[in-house]
Amino acid sequence: MSVLGLGRMGSALATALVGEGYEVTVWNRSEDKPTPANTTRVKTPEEAFKSDVVVTCLSTYDAQQPLLTNEIKTLVNLTSGTPEQARATARWAKDNGVEYVDGVIMAVPQQIGTPQARILFSGNENHHVLDAFGEPFHVGEDAGLAALYDLALLGIMWATFGGYLQAVALMGTEGIAPEQFTPMAADWLNELGAMLPEMGAETRSKSYETDVSALDINVSGLRMLTDANREQGLDTTIPQALHDLFERAQRSGHGAHSIASVIEEIRK
Ligand SMILES: NC(=O)c1ccc[n+]([C@@H]2O[C@H](COP(=O)([O-])OP(=O)(O)OC[C@H]3O[C@@H](n4cnc5c(N)ncnc54)[C@H](OP(=O)(O)O)[C@@H]3O)[C@@H](O)[C@H]2O)c1
Repeated sequence: MSVLGLGRMGSALATALVGEGYEVTVWNRSEDKPTPANTTRVKTPEEAFKSDVVVTCLSTYDAQQPLLTNEIKTLVNLTSGTPEQARATARWAKDNGVEYVDGVIMAVPQQIGTPQARILFSGNENHHVLDAFGEPFHVGEDAGLAALYDLALLGIMWATFGGYLQAVALMGTEGIAPEQFTPMAADWLNELGAMLPEMGAETRSKSYETDVSALDINVSGLRMLTDANREQGLDTTIPQALHDLFERAQRSGHGAHSIASVIEEIRK
């Protein structure tokens, strides 16, 4: 078993493989990264390709692609990228007789090797090496699907974290500390999470009638939020962008509809 890349994640992957009893060869571009305990460090990727399975975990596909050769027998690609990058790598693998598994890691390095580390993978369904890293979950035959799930879930994370940081900054303008506000924010997120199945169903049926909260009222709310952030001396990029998107959906005729109708503007 080989691991290419000894960054934060690659090192954790190599350590987890050692923990499962595999003999592990590791390679990293720079020599300054420490060698994980009980692994064998090699100086070139080609030496690492002698293993039956090569796990890659580099920062980007651009960093990874120049290293790949048809000497690899099985490539387990855990470098993050776009669906199209994953599909292109799958095509390259097929053309070069390399068995290919495309995975994404929905966890931080500290969780690797525990059941909390969810590994989504697509393409070849039978790759047990992933068991060493956490809880593998096969999302489909198309090699691009794992990357699609990854970016969709990360998109929710980045939007949520951005909204939270904006809120902390806003509360901070009046001296309210994060530790005072955060428990309320966390409860609020749980409540919002419970609303997603219904919202998802509305996007599918495209029936946006609501007796809960119309888009009109949410556009006014976003205007107030943008104004409040400006008045308190803060950056307004996030609330302004949401306001503008929701307002476009309103102008397209969804003012009396539910928030779910904004998806029609996103899909345009
Ligand atoms: N960290 C996380 O929480 C996390 C979570 C999920 C997924 N991931 C994914 O895991 C992958 C690695 O992330 P990381 O956190 O381990 O990053 P990192 O700590 O910054 O490590 C990056 C690795 O990529 C290598 N690299 C960068 N450019 C290179 C090049 N041109 N040629 C060869 N090697 C190159 C680095 O080698 P040098 O040491 O020579 O610079 C290093 O081994 C990313 O795709 C990331 O999205 C990370």
